Order: sequence, then C-alpha cells, then structure tokens
Amino acid sequence: MNQTIEQAYPKAYAEIDQSTKDSGFTMASDVLTCSLLRTLASSKPAGQFLELGTGTGLSTAWILDGMDHASSLISVDFDQQFLSIAEQFLGTDPRLKLIHSDGGEWMAKNKHQRFDYIFADTWHGKYLLLDEAIAMLKDGGLYIIDDMLPQLNWPEGHAEKATQLIAEIEKRSDLTITKQNWATGLIIGVKTNKADPRNN
Ligand SMILES: C[S@@+](CC[C@H](N)C(=O)[O-])C[C@H]1O[C@@H](n2cnc3c(N)ncnc32)[C@H](O)[C@@H]1O
Repeated sequence: MNQTIEQAYPKAYAEIDQSTKDSGFTMASDVLTCSLLRTLASSKPAGQFLELGTGTGLSTAWILDGMDHASSLISVDFDQQFLSIAEQFLGTDPRLKLIHSDGGEWMAKNKHQRFDYIFADTWHGKYLLLDEAIAMLKDGGLYIIDDMLPQLNWPEGHAEKATQLIAEIEKRSDLTITKQNWATGLIIGVKTNKADPRNN
C-alpha cells in the first residue's frame, strides 16, 4: 500500500489550489490531511460541521466532498482576501455558510450551537478556547486538528505551545483521542460522555 489518493479529488480542488498558490497563501492543509477530513466527514450523515480557519477553502472543499446532502458546514475566517477565494469556488454550495469573523468573536456568539464535527484549523478552538470548542461538540462528535508536528513556518516558541496543547488534550476525560504521526501530525478526538446515567 502507498499513500497515493486514487479516489477523485473534489471538483473545485484544482482551481482553488491554483488560486491559493497565486494568492501567496502559505498555510493551506496538505492533501493527505484533506483526504482524511473527507473520509471522516462521510461518517456523519446529516451532520452539522464546523471549520475554524477557512483559509482559501482547500480543506473546506474536501470536507464538503465527504458530506451528504442533508449536512451543513459553517466555516469561519477573519481574512476576507483568502475567504473570497473559497467564496468564488464554493459559494454556490447551499450546504456551506462562509463567515467573515474573528474566530473568538464568532465562538462567543454561537457557543450554544452543537456540532458533529469540528476541524479547528486556527488559534480559536485549538490554542485558544479549547474548552469552549469541545463544549460545542455533540457526544460522539469528531474533533480534528493538524499541524502538530514541527512545521517550517512555525514561529519561535510555537513548538512549546504545541507540546503544551498535546499534553492538555491528552488529559481530557471528555475526548477519546488518537495522535497520528503522519502528514503534518494530526490529533483526532471523539467527544465522549462516560457518565453512567444509573448514577443520576
Ligand atoms: C492554517 S490556516 C487555514 C487553512 C485552511 N483550513 C486550509 O486547509 O487550507 C489558518 C487560518 O486561520 C485564519 N485566522 C487566523 N487568526 C484568525 C482569527 N483570529 N479569527 C479567524 N480566523 C483566523 C487565517 O486567516 C488562516 O486562513
């Protein structure tokens, strides 16, 4: 077995990829991660999906490709220049709501919403407001983060932050996690409610 992705890429992928390169956006998710995002998206029929950090919409395109027609995706980013690339190529998909907002502000206003799947690909929901993001997951919901292995574009001091975040996530009793030393380094967690209702 090799890691080649033989299944078709999302329809808009090539155009978004080209526009991403033209725009100078350097933080796009790699295709292996995107492929996993799509696979996991397929596990949530009629699901409610949240992406924090749209970028230019590369990961968004793969998540949408895994979702069924009864599912919906909210994707949030504060950079209109990059968000407009996602809008251009994915904006007509009725399942997608692109939100131009600071991640923290959006989470504060929407903390009562519940999701089946959260891809936290910016500060909020990952390095910031982690508890709040996990609280927004339904039981059995997926929490996914990437870029947990050292990356060339990490600023000084970021490695320590990543190590701290991994330790913090490992300690949580409300997430059953697997760390994957693969692609850019992923953590996949499932929101777990182990409380025994017989104790109520
Ligand atoms: C790693 S990139 C997202 C990449 C994208 N998910 C993909 O796969 O191509 C992180 C994104 O977070 C956005 N971002 C950074 N700080 C933010 C904030 N405070 N609120 C909302 N978005 C933010 C950046 O504009 C950037 O697009």
